[in-house]
Amino acid sequence: MSADPTSYSNFEDASAKELDIKLEVDFKRKILKGVVTFVIDIHHDDTSRLVLDTRDLVILNVVAAESGERLEYTLGDAHPAFGSPLTVQLPDSSANRYKLTIAIQYETKEPGPSAVSAMQWLEPTQTAGKIHPYLFTQCQAIHARSMLPCQDTPAVKCSYVAEITVPSELTALMSAVKLEDKPSPESDKKICQFKQAVAIPSYLIALVVGALESRQIGPRSHVWSEKEVVESAAYEFAETEQMLQAAESIVGPYLWGVYDLVVLPPSFPYGGMENPCLTFVTPTLLAGDRSLANVVAHEISHSWTGNLVTNKTWEHFWLNEGFTVFLERKIAAVMHGEKERQFQAIGGWKTLQDSVNTFGSDNPLTALVPVLKDVDPDDAFSTVPYEKGFALLYYLESLLGGAEVFNKYLRAHVEHFKYKVITTDDWKSFFLSYFHKQVEEGVLDGVEWDKWLYSPGMPPYNPSYDPTLSAACHSLADQWAKASASDLNQFKASDLESFTAKQTQEFLDKLLQEQSPLSCEHLKAMETLYQMNSRKNAEIRFRWQKLCLKSSHEDCFPHVVKFLVEQGRMKFVRPLYREFYKCPKSQQLAVETFKQNKHAYHAIAASLIEKDISLK
Ligand code: BES
Ligand code: ZN
Repeated sequence: MSADPTSYSNFEDASAKELDIKLEVDFKRKILKGVVTFVIDIHHDDTSRLVLDTRDLVILNVVAAESGERLEYTLGDAHPAFGSPLTVQLPDSSANRYKLTIAIQYETKEPGPSAVSAMQWLEPTQTAGKIHPYLFTQCQAIHARSMLPCQDTPAVKCSYVAEITVPSELTALMSAVKLEDKPSPESDKKICQFKQAVAIPSYLIALVVGALESRQIGPRSHVWSEKEVVESAAYEFAETEQMLQAAESIVGPYLWGVYDLVVLPPSFPYGGMENPCLTFVTPTLLAGDRSLANVVAHEISHSWTGNLVTNKTWEHFWLNEGFTVFLERKIAAVMHGEKERQFQAIGGWKTLQDSVNTFGSDNPLTALVPVLKDVDPDDAFSTVPYEKGFALLYYLESLLGGAEVFNKYLRAHVEHFKYKVITTDDWKSFFLSYFHKQVEEGVLDGVEWDKWLYSPGMPPYNPSYDPTLSAACHSLADQWAKASASDLNQFKASDLESFTAKQTQEFLDKLLQEQSPLSCEHLKAMETLYQMNSRKNAEIRFRWQKLCLKSSHEDCFPHVVKFLVEQGRMKFVRPLYREFYKCPKSQQLAVETFKQNKHAYHAIAASLIEKDISLK
């Protein structure tokens, strides 16, 4: 078995260094087909096989590229989450046994009704423009293997070049720098070319194809999308360059050249995905007032933590996400002040409590570093690595004398580990050696390392954050929670007037934490005064609907259905389906809504929702 429990690849014996991807996008059959060529370093004299990850791929031919010699291969049994190992016999006649070039010709399988895959193929009717089809990929955590045969472990980093053949009226983009298109021998097609010169793990390989347009939003940035949303996207993400500069001021130069964004169709299952040179984002960020742009700050931060300094396996995912949330909130501090960072940390702590409650406080998956043997990373996903990771770094920062000292450390961490992959032990030993003076002085003596890193449940320490920006939200929420029916006339439409969107979010979060649900009368009054159902901000809609479902408030059902149908971001649809299903009055409606819309969700989302509402 491999050193990464989620990959079959024998990357300790042989590892890919460069990838050459030549694929055609066939919208008729909904497949990718072509050739992937690997330059491989062989690490041992006796390495005779190369094991790659695949899932739902049709392997057509494997050759040693220099000699053209056909190589023997076998495809192992298919595991539902991990796929099939592809074992290739290496040639013993190779001139230089320590470097080999292997080319694999293959096709992806035509998508079946319940196949979970990196690719989502959209019909023209599922796009904003309604004329052209659309394709996008989502490879994190272990879906790259359903797009191409590869060593699908973050432990291996590889540069790549690519040539993607698409219908000439469409545009392909990848997680790389886009080069000039070139003509295809077939006149109705063109070839889009790309180069990613920095070595990246397989989960950062990404492709999107559609009727895409772009607007420049900064000196190194464009936003791409269908033309219907490109103007609003350019407005929403106009702070991108400012965020890049804020990050650079903390962790050093941006090393990827271009930083573009692409706004995907509404079924994109995440808020954002840090594909290098080209962050993917959900259209649910388009609130019209830039209030959800922190997701962009988050994906920008991954350009250092995650994409340069990468977790070695998914068990150390907090090194990607915890560090990235920490850096995202540093950007908030540079742009809006330390109080804003503290305010966001308060929201984060609530998110952590919510996750720990959902999973159960003794669930091993709530440990910062969980054991993932035989666990599908999609099933293990939660906000624990994000928020427990943030809380640990914040706690350490406060012990070590605050932001200034810690920012220097962050920069040194990136400098030390950039282009590498790391485990929690690697992180901790560099951290302790960087702060060796403070360690000698006993500053860190009270840190309960094992509890923080390996125990399930909430952390062994309760941070206190500056309440300036949360105080008004919490006191208004307390008033609502305490009010009896006859007190409801004390509330006014203007109560929320001075709140930012994030403060309204915090107000709702505080109410969601109350033990007893609000009465329907309370919720009706709140709707009349605050017009929650007509909010455009998806984070506010989500919290409001959760609050209503907690009280089985039937007025909200049609609004919940509408939100579940118009977008497929898992952060919203999974908890809403769970609550919708849990509430006896809406259980039937939850199941029907899912069954009618299953085809529109991304396969990753559909498969997880099915488990959430007990259909699988
Ligand atoms: N890398 C993640 C998304 C992800 C994680 C995809 C695991 C697949 C598996 C991305 O950076 C992320 O965390 N996005 C968040 C945004 C946020 C925390 C601000 C999201 O999607 O909501
Ligand atoms: Zn992230």
